[in-house]
Amino acid sequence: MAQQKFSVQQVQAHKSEDSCWVIHNNNVYDVSSFVQDHPGGEEYILDHAGSDITDLMSDKLSHAHSEGAYEMLEEFLIGSLDTTTSATTAAATAVTSSVATKRTNAKTTTTTDDENEDEDYHKETDLIADKKSKFLDLSQPLLWQLWNSDFSKSFYLEQVHIPRHLKGSARIFGSPYLEVFTKTPWFVIPIFWLPIIAYNFNRSLESGLTADTAAYYFFSGMFIWTLAEYVIHRFLFHLDDFLPDSTFWLTAHFLLHGIHHYLPMDRLRLVMPPALAVALAVPLFKLGHSIFAAPQAYAVMSGAFLGYVLYDMTHYYLHHAKVFKIHFKEMKTYHLAHHYKNFEGGYGITSKIWDRVFNTELKL
Ligand code: HEM
Ligand code: HEM
Ligand SMILES: [Zn+2]
Ligand SMILES: [Zn+2]
Ligand SMILES: [Zn+2]
Repeated sequence: MAQQKFSVQQVQAHKSEDSCWVIHNNNVYDVSSFVQDHPGGEEYILDHAGSDITDLMSDKLSHAHSEGAYEMLEEFLIGSLDTTTSATTAAATAVTSSVATKRTNAKTTTTTDDENEDEDYHKETDLIADKKSKFLDLSQPLLWQLWNSDFSKSFYLEQVHIPRHLKGSARIFGSPYLEVFTKTPWFVIPIFWLPIIAYNFNRSLESGLTADTAAYYFFSGMFIWTLAEYVIHRFLFHLDDFLPDSTFWLTAHFLLHGIHHYLPMDRLRLVMPPALAVALAVPLFKLGHSIFAAPQAYAVMSGAFLGYVLYDMTHYYLHHAKVFKIHFKEMKTYHLAHHYKNFEGGYGITSKIWDRVFNTELKL
């Protein structure tokens, strides 16, 4: 199949949210389905829709992109720039067509490595593609594949921390009935938890606390949550080093947090499904009630649960909104660095305090 050629004018016509094309290294990409998932925010790409983003994407001032970003871009390739119609030099044309030839070769898996100069670069790309394909097949239900796999722990951990992008949500279960429970839109969190929080706070008042004391324990609860957020993210979600090397534990890791690193832009796999949050809340609730007397415990737990709700909302907000300049912009960059640069640090999502205390702060 010959590669399709587009003129600069043709690309420029696609500059809306519905149809957004960009040029990168003389190749043409249709990124329409990616725009609203762009981790930096859709406005960044839309502002340059229809134009050449080669320099912008590696611009240190705006944001120098990770390797993962360029791999995502490759999935949207639709053709190359027809440089003959524009006023570019003959050299540029030569480069484009040699790249095009190479791609066609790669697609049809011919092994004629005759007149191709930039062999190494393309071998590299193919290797990456190959390595990826030996991990999970994103078009099939994921849980079953992982459960039946014989991935070693080190291979699994390496792969699951490489971010991938998918149009829409990946399938976890084959069964649509089970699948429903794995998808949690963000607004389910406050709808589910706020009544529980109100109930617990009210119980603390009913069981004899004055409003002042209840408020004091409530805010202590919220503060305790910030530590819980750090501890859960660092030691439970990223148990990585201490994770037993068995398929069962790899699957558990995947469900808890692996999937969010694997597909960070999946909107329905970001906040915690309430049915399962309850499974965790029950022991925490018992713990709270064994440390504090009942009236105080109700107030502390309502504060801690509110802390959790604010945390999960913040997490979604950082990933999917154009964030507020003060504090949140900094936290967004910080959390994206946890995803795309170094997942062994930067565990705080609502703030960096505990990263500072435990010396895991990412310096950007
Ligand atoms: C269509 C091609 C693009 C793709 C596939 C892409 C992908 C990504 C990805 C995966 C990230 C997460 C962090 C990282 O990888 O380092 C990111 C962040 C970011 N991108 Fe892009 N990007 C594209 C185009 C652009 C353009 C054209 C701009 C700017 C004009 C831009 C500005 C940003 C910024 C500012 C961030 C970081 C936000 C922050 O740290 O708070 N991106 N992009
Ligand atoms: C009894 C089993 C489970 C327990 C105790 C549990 C507990 C948790 C906890 C404590 C969190 C972190 C809180 C948060 O980030 O909001 C969480 C997050 C999450 N859980 Fe579960 N979970 C269980 C099973 C599952 C299953 C079966 C799925 C999906 C199929 C799932 C999907 C998720 C997702 C997508 C997140 C969000 C990850 C993130 O915030 O980065 N969990 N779960
Ligand atoms: Zn991890
Ligand atoms: Zn995240
Ligand atoms: Zn993480």
